[in-house]
Amino acid sequence: MMPDHGELLYEGKAKRIYAVTNPDQVLVEFKNDATAFNAQKKAQLADKGRLNCQISARLFELLETAGIPSHYVGLAGETWMLVKRVEIIPLEVVLRNIATGSLCRQTPIAEGTPISPALFDLYFKDDALADPLLTEARVRLLGVADESQLSAIEQLARRVNAALSPFFEGIGLQLVDFKLELGITSSGELLLADEISPDTCRLWDLNSTDAKDRILDKDRFRKDLGGVMEAYGEVLKRVQASTSNPRNCM
Ligand SMILES: Nc1ncnc2c1ncn2[C@@H]1O[C@H](COP(=O)(O)OP(=O)(O)O)[C@@H](O)[C@H]1O
Ligand SMILES: [Mg+2]
Repeated sequence: MMPDHGELLYEGKAKRIYAVTNPDQVLVEFKNDATAFNAQKKAQLADKGRLNCQISARLFELLETAGIPSHYVGLAGETWMLVKRVEIIPLEVVLRNIATGSLCRQTPIAEGTPISPALFDLYFKDDALADPLLTEARVRLLGVADESQLSAIEQLARRVNAALSPFFEGIGLQLVDFKLELGITSSGELLLADEISPDTCRLWDLNSTDAKDRILDKDRFRKDLGGVMEAYGEVLKRVQASTSNPRNCM
């Protein structure tokens, strides 16, 4: 089912953004395209759009219950979500609870090292520059966020972590790290935007000790481990079992 929508405003790597009648909202369509390493690696993964859309909707509603504001308005179909339109802050905000990925390539910190309190990392959201790691001084220099916005962003990201980590632990998943995007509405409100899914979170199965089998996120695609959609399906199954059905707004 496809909801009524206006013009295509933007097509990204994983989603399409469409206008709707209400100028303060947009429709997000989750695609089956998978990309990694700044889109150097690409594939079509059947059902990915639906899985990420449904997982995201349930997580945004969970966060809403915890008082964490997001762009989420409601589902508008299996692969469609109605959201508040925001101006995206060009930062990829990453929180790391366990060391892995680029942190372990760029530092001597060993894979799997617990990090507490979580490490707050900022990357410049710019495909042409391959999303480089920023310092807070560089964020200020670039003018992407001022001091008070930066501290509001960090606070919001830590609240998301404080809500999601125990939730995932309760369904046997370790929230290793995750990426957030934030945006500002026309009335100046700072909101969580984009998506929260196995494309943007690293999730390890607490019931598995095998370093490869336990991976239930996009690393299966990055590392050619196979069973990518089975892993996303397992995440949705567990999330579904401990959240209520997301609201439909169409
Ligand atoms: N509520 C929103 N309003 C406007 N743009 C948004 C909103 N949520 C996400 N976006 C943007 O939509 C675009 C499409 O998503 P995606 O396909 O993931 O893009 P990208 O290729 O940049 O990762 C991204 O640039 C994302 O920042
Ligand atoms: Mg994206």
